[in-house]
Amino acid sequence: MTGLFITLEGPEGAGKSTNREYLAERLRDAGIEVLLTREPGGTPLAERIREVLLTPGEEVMNADTELLLVFAARAQHLAAVIRPALARGAVVLCDRFTDSTYAYQGAGRGLSLERIAALEDFVQGALRPDLTLVFDLPVEVGLARASARGRLDRFEQEGQAFFQKVREAFLKRAEAAPQRYFLVDAAQPLVQVQQSLDALLPQLLERARG
Ligand SMILES: Nc1ncnc2c1ncn2[C@@H]1O[C@H](COP(=O)(O)OP(=O)(O)OP(=O)(O)O)[C@@H](O)[C@H]1O
Ligand SMILES: [Mg+2]
Repeated sequence: MTGLFITLEGPEGAGKSTNREYLAERLRDAGIEVLLTREPGGTPLAERIREVLLTPGEEVMNADTELLLVFAARAQHLAAVIRPALARGAVVLCDRFTDSTYAYQGAGRGLSLERIAALEDFVQGALRPDLTLVFDLPVEVGLARASARGRLDRFEQEGQAFFQKVREAFLKRAEAAPQRYFLVDAAQPLVQVQQSLDALLPQLLERARG
C-alpha cells in the first residue's frame, strides 16, 4: 500500500499552515489517516536544523551551506517520517518541500537549478509529491500577514525583490507541470480559499482511497 504525498507551497504568509489544518480535518472526517508535517523540520533532529536555518545570526550563512542544510533536514525527515507514513498508506500533508528549495535557494539565492535537481535525486531517489498545492498571492499581502505574526525569521528579513523571484518561481513550476500542481488564489478571504480546497476534496478522497 502506498499513501498519498501532498505538499503545500507558496511564499510567506500565503496560508499554507492555516489550510494544512483545514485539509487534514476534512480528510480525517472522511476516515483517512493523515500525517501533518512541515519542512524544514518534521523530526527532532530536522527541527534543530530548521532552527539553524531560520534564526538570524551574526555570521552570514553561505548559500551552499543553506542548500545543504535544507537537504540534510529533508533526508532525515524522509527516512524517519515521510517514507514510513507513505508505506503504511497514510496521506502525508507537508507544509513546504522541494518546490520551496527551487524557489528560495534557486530563484531567491540564485543557486543553480541543476545542482538542486542533483541533490533532489540524491536525497529523494524517485520520490516526488503526488500533488502540490501552490498558495499564490501578491508579495506585499503575504509579507504583511507574516509580519503581523511577530518577529521576522532569517528569510522574512529578505526584501521585496527576493520574494518576487520566489513567487514567480512557484508559478513557473506550477505552469510547467499542471497535472501535479493545484494553484490557489491565496489573496482571497479564507472562506473562499477553503471553498477552492473543498472543490478539490472529492478527487483527493478518491486518490487517497486508491
Ligand atoms: N485567506 C486569508 N485571508 C486573510 N488572512 C489569512 C488568510 N490565510 C491565512 N491568513 C492569516 O495570515 C497569517 C499567515 O498565515 P499562515 O501562517 O497560514 O501562512 P504560511 O503560508 O504558513 O506562512 P509561512 O510561510 O510564513 O509559514 C496568519 O495569521 C493567518 O491567520
Ligand atoms: Mg507556515
